[in-house]
Amino acid sequence: MKITVLGTGGGGRAHAARLLQLGHEVVVGTRDSEVTLGRTEPNFMGIEPFGQWVADYPGIELMNFGDAAAGAEFVINGIDGANAVRVLSGIAEHLAGKTVMDYAVPYVYNPERAHPWPTPWGVMPALDPVDHDSLGEQIQRALPAAKVVKAGVTQEQETVVNPQSVGGGDHTMFIAGEDAGAKEQVTELLRAYGWQDVLDLGPIVSSRGMEMYAHMHSAIQFALGGARFGMKVIR
Ligand SMILES: NC(=O)c1ccc[n+]([C@@H]2O[C@H](COP(=O)([O-])OP(=O)(O)OC[C@H]3O[C@@H](n4cnc5c(N)ncnc54)[C@H](OP(=O)(O)O)[C@@H]3O)[C@@H](O)[C@H]2O)c1
Repeated sequence: MKITVLGTGGGGRAHAARLLQLGHEVVVGTRDSEVTLGRTEPNFMGIEPFGQWVADYPGIELMNFGDAAAGAEFVINGIDGANAVRVLSGIAEHLAGKTVMDYAVPYVYNPERAHPWPTPWGVMPALDPVDHDSLGEQIQRALPAAKVVKAGVTQEQETVVNPQSVGGGDHTMFIAGEDAGAKEQVTELLRAYGWQDVLDLGPIVSSRGMEMYAHMHSAIQFALGGARFGMKVIR
């Protein structure tokens, strides 16, 4: 399948590499491909420049967001949460009718807050929107002709694309969205990644809980000294 990953960050790279391994045609989307390929310094997360990384994955193409979305049959959104709605709104015509799997978290970095939460990597970002709305819902409203499925947001994407790397894969992946067919498509991809327990949380409004879990996920990870872990729903 022709799959486009919108986003050149660590999560987008994890999906792109795994999708290539699974035999898909993979395009990665970015703001400006020349600028992205011209970068020589690690980004703020300390990850190597995209051009260096992609040299190890011949076959992955880099295009500007709109062109990348236009040729896709299936889209994964990994655009920084604070900018995702604006970027996706601008390329809505290229996403119409398509399934968009969204794993972004609506983090606002360095928030001015009365009670900051210090973490090993700085102050915990704030969630915005939170509680009474979510990024997943905002994206679906911005893309009324696309089928948005929130998935993968409760995990590091390296674990999403390789669940067996944690606990032999015995943990749960959550999805939510309005379109049953799109959720089936996303579930099929997750199964190809290795997920055996995919729990459908229902409509896109469940993105609220999935995104708010980001703080709990971080708290557990701090307690584990940074180790990767999975969450299993026992029923
Ligand atoms: N990494 C993970 O394992 C993980 C896990 C769960 C959730 N998330 C969430 O998923 C989202 C993506 O995470 P990520 O780590 O894969 O990548 P990221 O570093 O958060 O975002 C990378 C992408 O966002 C774009 N971007 C950044 N600022 C922008 C701006 N001002 N305007 C337009 N585009 C902009 C970048 O464009 P360029 O390509 O042009 O630089 C890049 O493609 C985030 O919300 C993150 O919190 C990540």
